[in-house]
Parts: sequence; structure tokens; C-alpha cells
Amino acid sequence: MKERLEALKLEALQELSGVQSQQELNDLRIKYLGKKGPLTEVLRGMGALSAEERPVIGQVANDVRAAIEAVIEEKQAGYQQQETENRLRAEMIDVTLPGRPSQQGAVHPLSKVIQEIEDIFIGMGYTVAEGPEVEQDYYNFEALNLPKDHPARDMQDSFYITDEILMRTQTSPVQVRTMEKRQGEVPIKIICPGKVYRRDDDDATHSHMFTQIEGLVIDRNVRMSDLKGTLLQFVQEMYGKETRIRLRPSFFPFTEPSVEVDVSCAMCGGVGCRTCKQTGWLEILGAGMVHPRVLEMGGYDPKEYTGFAFGMGVERIAMLKYGIEDIRHFYTNDLRFLKQFLHL
Ligand code: PHE
Repeated sequence: MKERLEALKLEALQELSGVQSQQELNDLRIKYLGKKGPLTEVLRGMGALSAEERPVIGQVANDVRAAIEAVIEEKQAGYQQQETENRLRAEMIDVTLPGRPSQQGAVHPLSKVIQEIEDIFIGMGYTVAEGPEVEQDYYNFEALNLPKDHPARDMQDSFYITDEILMRTQTSPVQVRTMEKRQGEVPIKIICPGKVYRRDDDDATHSHMFTQIEGLVIDRNVRMSDLKGTLLQFVQEMYGKETRIRLRPSFFPFTEPSVEVDVSCAMCGGVGCRTCKQTGWLEILGAGMVHPRVLEMGGYDPKEYTGFAFGMGVERIAMLKYGIEDIRHFYTNDLRFLKQFLHL
């Protein structure tokens, strides 16, 4: 029996030395050490041995088993090492490769211009106020001195949702909402940026949705000259120190007197060019002294308080500043257009 065990050991070690793969190693482990293997069989036959022989053979069998196991372990460790090395090689990262540049987003040119305008007015002590785009007829028209049958409502063709609710046609309703909120307190000094909606056919200078910035100042002794000085300061910061303004009489139901404000053309410096249609002037905003009726409806006594208001189209301001010829560029998201403003 001892010889059989020694022969078994030799055979096993012989076969193990030629092993080529993990699979083969597994097979040999089962073949020699498994439950149905020759070693188990020998050990099972030990019952038939004499009491003196049993421990001797038992010892030999254990030695054989240990010898085979040791070789298998050693081979197994080798395979594991190999496998780890393979994985490390496969997953190797070359940290010296130059990185791929990632696409970077940027602030939309309109948002930039809004920020710029906000900064200028914040520098003059204004705060930013906002209001809803879906607005009540009362705030958009009525409280701005535009009762239901007022012909001036036709100046702003509106998207109505119900008889009393519409998409706001201007940012002026934020004036009314602010007055209501402040309950007669002064001073009010706000600018209100936001989207507005009108039933216009879209073309190079019209868009059914565009952006306005509204300004409102209410206090004691606010005068037309304050409005003029404020707007001059604004355009000079926006378009350059040499910029001039011109006020022309106009009409808005919520201001009296009302003016339209022109700036000297930044393209030609006022001598006349294509942009200003040879006039040297560009109209950029509407403004005026807050109508006494509007003050009253907002809860401010017009005998004690006065105010001025102005409203401008942000797209127009941006188009003039950057020489953009079509308002639709702001909304079609053509990257070739947007990329020109990456570094502003
Ligand atoms: N809300 C006016 C418009 O959209 C602009 C404006 C605002 C005029 C404030 C005067 C005062 O046409």
C-alpha cells in the first residue's frame, strides 16, 4: 500500500509539472484530491489494515496528500499572481497623456447684458425686483391707468389666457406689485428684468417673446431732471463716456409727461450711418414721470410723492452694443452665434 501511495505521489507530481492552465490545475486537484480520487480510495481501504500498519500508512498517505497540495498551492499562487499582473496591465492608465478638452458652457449673451444693466443700476442704489410672467389684467393694464376699453391697449397686442389673465406684455406690472408690497413706504428704487410677450409676427426686429428691464423710483421731490441724469449715467456706463441722450415727447398711459429716449449712435458717434438710418440717434427706451393715477392706485399720495419710470428692451440694447442684426439670433441657439460671446 505504501508503494501504491508513493507511485501515486510520483504520478501526481509528474502530471502537475506539465500543467498549462488554471483549468487543468483544477481538474488535477479534483482528480487526485477529490472525493472520488485514488487517495481517498486508499484511505478508505485502511480499515482492512492491521493496528500496527494503520498509523504508518496513515502517515504516508498524509505526507503524499500534503506534497500534492503543496505543489497545487504553489501553482495556484502563480496563476493568481499572473492574473493580477494581467489585470493591472489591462487597466493601466497613462497619466502622461494630454487631457481631452471638455466643452464648456457659457452665460447667454442676453443674460450677460441683463447682468451688466443690473450692475449699473445696483451701483446707483437700486434693487432688483421680479414678478410673474402670467399676469392679471389688473396689474398689466388696469392699475397702470389702462382701463378695459382704453384704446392704448392696442399698442400692445396681448396673449390672453382668460378674460382676466394674460401673458404680461411689459414689465410695468412689477411697478404696481412693488408699490402694493411697500405700502406707502419710500424710497422705492427698483429695476425689474424679465420676459414679456406680445402678439407680433417674428422678424429681424420683432419677437413674440422678448426681455425688458423696467425701472421705478418713487420718493419725495423726484423730478424729471433726476430721470434724465439717471438715464445719462446709465447709457454712459453702457455705451461709453462720450454717449449723449435726447428726450422726445411721447405718450404712455402710465407716465405724464412721457418721453422716448434716444442715445447717440455708438456705431458712428452720431454722424449718421446705416444702423441709425443716418440720423445719428437710436431710440432705446420709453420713460416718464409716474402718472398721479398710477401712484394713487399703488397707494401713494401724488400730492406728497412723485416718481419716474422707464422701460427698455434688453435685446435692442444688446443688438446696438454688439452690432447684432437679427433679434431671432438670441433664441435659435446657433452655437456659431453664441460662441462669439464666450469671452465677454
Ligand atoms: N412699458 C412700456 C412699454 O413696454 C415702457 C415704459 C416703461 C414706458 C416705463 C414708460 C415707463 O412700451
